[in-house]
Amino acid sequence: MNAISMNLVTLFYLVASVCFIQALKGLSSPSTARLGNAFGMAGMAIAVVTTIALMLKLQESLQQGGGLGFGLVLLGVIVGGAIGAFAAKKVEMTKMPELVAAMHSLIGLAAVCIAIAAVSEPWAFNITTRGAPLPFGNRLELFIGTFVGAVTFSGSVIAFGKLSGKYKFRLFQGAPVRFAGQHILNLLVALAIVALGLIFCFAHGLEPAWGAFIVMAALAFVLGVLIIIPIGGADMPVVVSMLNSYSGWAAAGIGFSLNNAMLIIAGSLVGSSGAILSYIMCKAMNRSFFNVLLGGFGGEAVVDAGGAKEQRPVKSGSAEDAAFILQNAESVIIVPGYGLAVARAQHTVKELVDKLTAHGVTVRYAIHPVAGRMPGHMNVLLAEAEVPYDQVAEMEDINGEFGQTDVVLILGANDVVNPAAKDPKSAIAGMPILEAYRAKSIIVNKRSMASGYAGLDNDLFYQPNTMMVFGDAKKVIEAMVKAVE
Ligand code: TAP
Repeated sequence: MNAISMNLVTLFYLVASVCFIQALKGLSSPSTARLGNAFGMAGMAIAVVTTIALMLKLQESLQQGGGLGFGLVLLGVIVGGAIGAFAAKKVEMTKMPELVAAMHSLIGLAAVCIAIAAVSEPWAFNITTRGAPLPFGNRLELFIGTFVGAVTFSGSVIAFGKLSGKYKFRLFQGAPVRFAGQHILNLLVALAIVALGLIFCFAHGLEPAWGAFIVMAALAFVLGVLIIIPIGGADMPVVVSMLNSYSGWAAAGIGFSLNNAMLIIAGSLVGSSGAILSYIMCKAMNRSFFNVLLGGFGGEAVVDAGGAKEQRPVKSGSAEDAAFILQNAESVIIVPGYGLAVARAQHTVKELVDKLTAHGVTVRYAIHPVAGRMPGHMNVLLAEAEVPYDQVAEMEDINGEFGQTDVVLILGANDVVNPAAKDPKSAIAGMPILEAYRAKSIIVNKRSMASGYAGLDNDLFYQPNTMMVFGDAKKVIEAMVKAVE
């Protein structure tokens, strides 16, 4: 087989990188998300095939038999691809964050494994010629790649355990794990990692300073655990997005060592988009990133969630009452939340909206950026039910319209419509909310008066113009569909 030329490799990597950029651009809007995904898949296919061709070329130039190496890579592609396809097909929307956390852990581990291989045989990666020592710059890149990769791996494993909530192991429990001197310990471990990394980078001689490198990597694994355990339930999606960012930087760091432009570009795209997403989520919850990392709010939320109740009178009605009000309205805004996702009621809502629209009611959906449990959760849910994109509005675009709306129908949402956010003393003070409380009439569907994720009572439920319709979202909406003439 003719070896691929380096110019062609560079060209294909460039094409793959452009595909990744197009993928991100496409994913920024629901109407172009499918095309974005197609670009992402095409880019990844080009990248994988080009890398296999490059690997064969390197083996040829090293005059090694390519059979075993090629077979192993192919086996990895088949086994990894099959597991990925199976997991993606099987995963429920509400379990998506834990799948993403599991994937990040693998990226982190891959970065560490590649770094170890590159340190032990740099000539096999075209970093040096056989027998030459690793230059300082490469050592630095490999140190950073290993450090970030190891933190990403162990941090993501803990995040996965916390999000899945299936394991009894204390570190995998949703509630934060805190102890005295925790931040000092983290700082000391981080300083030790930097010191060992510098020993590894500055060591002279042909043999790399393996001792410093291995202890540094082991401490980085420990640090990953230490920084994630104090973070609690509601903050976990921010943590997952932060680990996403880390995994991108780890890949980019390794890309520098391997002189692989595509890995650098793809890693930087993942790193920066993850960081931007973490920032957007923190802003939508009015939390500082630092505050999330130090833990606090999430833990209390998990403990209190479902517990806080107040003995105040509320007005409640049946699904049939709600259907009557809805079909006699001129304008309706639907606010979907986590409960709707849990009840898997998105298709039934679409049915209800179709019936109301046929009655001449104008219906729109209002999406809060952190409604649900992961970024874009509600958009994905509504897209799955094939809700037309022009019926879906983002918070900033629709907030001004609640005051002129006849009915707001809140389905399994709580914190994102909680007016307590306007109270400077509240735990969610300053969090931007959907201003549903301004509507002429409010209908809320949930199963009980239990609080949402932030563990707070919601004054909206006690407003004189609010009617509660208790029950599972799917059953309640099905009854509404039946009741609409
Ligand atoms: P929540 O405040 O968690 O409220 C969801 C409500 O749904 C609950 O009060 C629950 O009440 C109800 N519910 C549960 N199962 C139901 C079912 N089968 N049928 C009907 N109702 C059901 O949700 P939200 O308003 O979407 O707010 C999201 C929260 O997650 C915010 O606090 C946000 O900060 C946090 N968060 C989100 C993200 C992202 S990126 N989405 C990231 C970090 C944190 P009952 O138990 O009474 O039914």
